[in-house]
Amino acid sequence: MHEFKYVNGKLACENVSVDALARAHGTPLYVYSQGTLARHFQRLDAAWAAVPHGICFAVKSNSNLAVLRVLANLGSGFDVVSEGELRRVCAAGGNPGTCIFAGVGKTQAEIDYALQQEIYAFNVESEAELERIDRLAARRGKAAPVALRVNPNVDALTHAKITTGTYLNKFGIPLEEIRGLAARARRLKHVRIRGLQMHIGSQISEAKPFAVAARKVVPLIQELKKDHPLEFFSAGGGLGIVYEAALESGAEAWWESPAARQQLTAVDHAADLVPMLEPLGLRILLEPGRFIAGNAGILVTRVEYVKRMGSKTFVIVDAAMNDLVRPAFYDAYHEIVPVAARNGAMVACDVVGPVCESSDYFARNRRLPRVQEGDLLAVMSAGAYGFSMASNYNTRPLPAEVLVHGRLAAVARFRQYLPRIWEAEKLPRWLKFQRLPPTRP
Ligand code: LLP
Repeated sequence: MHEFKYVNGKLACENVSVDALARAHGTPLYVYSQGTLARHFQRLDAAWAAVPHGICFAVKSNSNLAVLRVLANLGSGFDVVSEGELRRVCAAGGNPGTCIFAGVGKTQAEIDYALQQEIYAFNVESEAELERIDRLAARRGKAAPVALRVNPNVDALTHAKITTGTYLNKFGIPLEEIRGLAARARRLKHVRIRGLQMHIGSQISEAKPFAVAARKVVPLIQELKKDHPLEFFSAGGGLGIVYEAALESGAEAWWESPAARQQLTAVDHAADLVPMLEPLGLRILLEPGRFIAGNAGILVTRVEYVKRMGSKTFVIVDAAMNDLVRPAFYDAYHEIVPVAARNGAMVACDVVGPVCESSDYFARNRRLPRVQEGDLLAVMSAGAYGFSMASNYNTRPLPAEVLVHGRLAAVARFRQYLPRIWEAEKLPRWLKFQRLPPTRP
């Protein structure tokens, strides 16, 4: 459910016209709805009301300071995977004491910074990492709070590039090795096991993989609780969202689409897991990224050209794979709608960007209303893993981001000033003093 809808034939984000935002800030432009972020957070929070719980927003999905602040103000904690993300949380006014730090490759500097910031827990992914944390905590005279990340060897039934919970993936510690590692941790003086964590993948749209994984992990936690004063179990993130739309099926709004009605909801997810996890008597953490931010953002882009070649129509827009890489990277589906609603014939077209790669597309063979140069399109559900995965490929500046709250809209990030892209680059002296050849007439 989100707050992007047509009002008098024009797409609006909450009470602000998307067309006006595009005119004021240019395109490509990310637009986020604060109300949608809040509603998704609150919906998840309510679904888990029966147990003590906490939500740690996955910063990797959308790390804009304004978005982080919206969530911090709602009482969210954060799931971070780098020093940079932890610093962002602090810069946004978030509390590092609500952060859990995941990732298989934490460097010494990152661990040290997190120790200094007194984060809530390190999600440990290997024995070597546990020992490294112990060593670094010893230097600071601290006992680092850690959670062992369990790999339950469960197929999340999602895209291969975002599945994390099997032994073919680099993540976590095999279920069978957890007891041994926990015993090892007990002998280390500068770590204390605060919890257990699990994350089996992303964009999971069925309840089953979560339940199968929980069923495997619960007995292990019960056993570990006997010897370790566990405080929490983090069930990870991964709750999928609806990317498929309703407009073609004739529904007025996206959430009325048949796909949306079949979607695994926060309520279903909790209804399955709460009865299994409640008897643990632990605080349950959740690490959602996409569920909160995915449908809370769109990427607005302008049509530059409509190019017909043989039987194909290419709608060439000013956003590209560097702005939103998900279609190129995961063959991801994103709904695309015109910012000014159009009736009339639908035309099958490829919506593509200007980057010199065939994978630079947003949609293939998609039926869209006929569009022309200058029209605005909205790429929907781009709030998670959109801007946060953007790059400067083709020396394209990072797009601007705007946050909308009711009738208010404010820049959450200015469009990158072009020379900033090469600001940190430098010509070595020996090149600078070599003369350029005379230019030819
Ligand atoms: N916790 C951990 C340990 C994770 O690795 C992730 C995501 C999350 C939580 C949040 O997962 P979510 O609730 O957003 O599914 N770039 C990909 C998604 C990569 C997800 C990586 N890990 C995409 O655009 O689909």
